[in-house]
Amino acid sequence: MHMRASDHPVGPRTIPVRIILEDPASLNEDGSDTAEHEVMAAEGEHLLEVALRAGVNIEHACGGVCACSTCHVYIEDGDDALSEPTEMEEDRVEEAPGLQINSRLSCQCDIVRPPADGGPIVMRVPAWNRNAVKEVPH
Ligand code: FES
Repeated sequence: MHMRASDHPVGPRTIPVRIILEDPASLNEDGSDTAEHEVMAAEGEHLLEVALRAGVNIEHACGGVCACSTCHVYIEDGDDALSEPTEMEEDRVEEAPGLQINSRLSCQCDIVRPPADGGPIVMRVPAWNRNAVKEVPH
């Protein structure tokens, strides 16, 4: 599925993001069992595109337009660096299996500032959640 890229200019990649995979073999593009990636991201990027760039295949059935919940992740640290969830995201994320208090949809998590403690932003990708698409816009 084609993915929505950031629709605004992004800055230099100075913000560390740690991506922890609960099921690395199915999430790593190269099939490896590497369970942690540390990459640099820019203000203006969203976490889904950061993960995809790092070779982590988070499912994104709706293409990043907040119409599914397949890009569900847990934010374990650095949530002060991310955009606040919208009501639409809150409604969608409630459909995700394994919902937790720190659940977010990675395509909706724009990096808006560096984390106050210098980072990294830490996101955990849950062991696979099956396609929870309700409707896909045409
Ligand atoms: S990819 Fe569908 S909500 Fe994020």
